[in-house]
Amino acid sequence: MRTLDPAQIAPNDIYKLMIGMIVPRPIAFVSSVDLAGIRNLAPFSYFTACSSNPPVVCFCTAVRTSPRPYKDTLLNVEATGEFVVNIVSEEFAGQMNLCSADVPPEIDEFELSGLTPLASDLVKPPRVAESKVQMECRLHQIVRVSDQPGGGILVLGEVLRFHVLESLLDGYKIDPDKLNAVGRMGGPAYARTRARATASRCSGPGKLTVPEAIPRDGI
Ligand SMILES: Cc1cc2nc3c(=O)[nH]c(=O)nc-3n(C[C@H](O)[C@H](O)[C@H](O)COP(=O)(O)O)c2cc1C
Repeated sequence: MRTLDPAQIAPNDIYKLMIGMIVPRPIAFVSSVDLAGIRNLAPFSYFTACSSNPPVVCFCTAVRTSPRPYKDTLLNVEATGEFVVNIVSEEFAGQMNLCSADVPPEIDEFELSGLTPLASDLVKPPRVAESKVQMECRLHQIVRVSDQPGGGILVLGEVLRFHVLESLLDGYKIDPDKLNAVGRMGGPAYARTRARATASRCSGPGKLTVPEAIPRDGI
């Protein structure tokens, strides 16, 4: 093993290490609006759920160097207290990727990408109609982990409404093949979620039985 001391590594290289080792990451495709109502849409793969009761999700926005250290999404959520997390399926992953362009706040990424805005029930930011799962969120907390360039600002939001495409649902179970979500790997790479392995049961301490080999095709 090579042992690395982060104190001896440039922040940009630490970033490369972390996005290569923490994989695959789900993607929060976050819609927000500013106080004037201008729409914003951007992907964030530092994303997970952190509570089911109440349902809370979180994502992290990186701090850039001046003159625009804070991402538009963060500024919008701070100003309005609302956002929507849209889950990214392979079918529109290319358009999601377009929305990661570093464009000025007055650019509406719905227009930039051609994705379709769909009115939310309870919050101002619209949902992405192409997304099969959308979560309307109210800001719960912002944690400024680090305000240095390369630092992260964590945004937690309580889910006020889940919207799930009817055909994905079997009770409250979601069919992963129909969702066809993509994950983020290191660099510009993405992972598909259609090739999976199923753990039957734990067969002893530290052991997990994985009955099928993971098919190599499709990834
Ligand atoms: C798949 C993907 C995942 C990303 N994840 C993050 C992330 O977790 N945090 C972050 O700050 N930027 C992330 N980015 C970059 C932002 O999407 C990008 O900086 C975007 O321009 C931010 O938009 P905004 O300024 O409109 O909020 C990601 C980009 C892509 C393509």
